[in-house]
Amino acid sequence: MSKIVIHIDSLSKKYRGSQEFAVENLSLTIVQGEIFGLLGPNGAGKTTLISMLCGLITPSEGTFTIHDFSYHESPKQLKASIGVVPQDFALYPSLTAKENLCYFGSMYGLKGKMLGDKADAALASLGLAGYKDKQVGTFSGGMKRRINLLAAVLHEPAVLFLDEPTVGVDVHSKKAIMGYLLELNAQGTTIVYTSHHLQEAQEFCTRVGIIESGKLWRIGSPEALIASIPQANNLEDVFIDLTGRGFRDG
Ligand SMILES: Nc1ncnc2c1ncn2[C@@H]1O[C@H](COP(=O)(O)OP(=O)(O)OP(=O)(O)O)[C@@H](O)[C@H]1O
Ligand SMILES: [Mg+2]
Repeated sequence: MSKIVIHIDSLSKKYRGSQEFAVENLSLTIVQGEIFGLLGPNGAGKTTLISMLCGLITPSEGTFTIHDFSYHESPKQLKASIGVVPQDFALYPSLTAKENLCYFGSMYGLKGKMLGDKADAALASLGLAGYKDKQVGTFSGGMKRRINLLAAVLHEPAVLFLDEPTVGVDVHSKKAIMGYLLELNAQGTTIVYTSHHLQEAQEFCTRVGIIESGKLWRIGSPEALIASIPQANNLEDVFIDLTGRGFRDG
């Protein structure tokens, strides 16, 4: 039996002043080594769920553990075991690529030569060695996405959360990012990521969860979900069948 890494039990979030749940009564278990894709249209609740798991916002109801740690009892251990790649860039434009990575690495206790070496190796692994001393503010969207990702993995987290890691990037950067994530996964990192790209998720994920209006409608491997619906050829067909509308109908 694979080891359970993330255990979510009846998690809900209602933002202050809002009448509706952004995430409602959501339960889910993710095991070690999975690449789990959280798929849903704009406003489905993807970022809200990830933000709770990363400790950025507090759940209204329900509980969860990561590696058996909870924010309530063991916040330090929990934070040390996860990496977070946010939907919006969390980088300092006036710092260089290497300075940005060293800054984020230092927040996880890395320092000195070890930190510098790790930052250099990370930049090289995503084709950015030649840009390490350039200001991030001058970078393309795809390069910023790559730095955003590297900033989250320097401390070698066992679980990596990524919120839309390939939004706004060209094919080349996308390939580099997905290839890098597959390498991390092959080394044992559990990956949870959100996406609008059903085709990408279909190719990349071991399992996906389809989320809409804060609720998980289905969970399973892409193959199993497609096979569960007659006439479905891909995850887009599954989504239409479940919700009665296309993924991008709004
Ligand atoms: N800080 C907030 N305060 C109030 N409501 C919020 C807040 N953040 C999100 N919401 C609402 O919660 C719901 C879920 O939003 P969320 O950002 O989690 O969706 P999402 O699936 O990440 O969407 P997207 O694909 O656009 O990133 C939406 O109705 C949104 O308007
Ligand atoms: Mg979002």
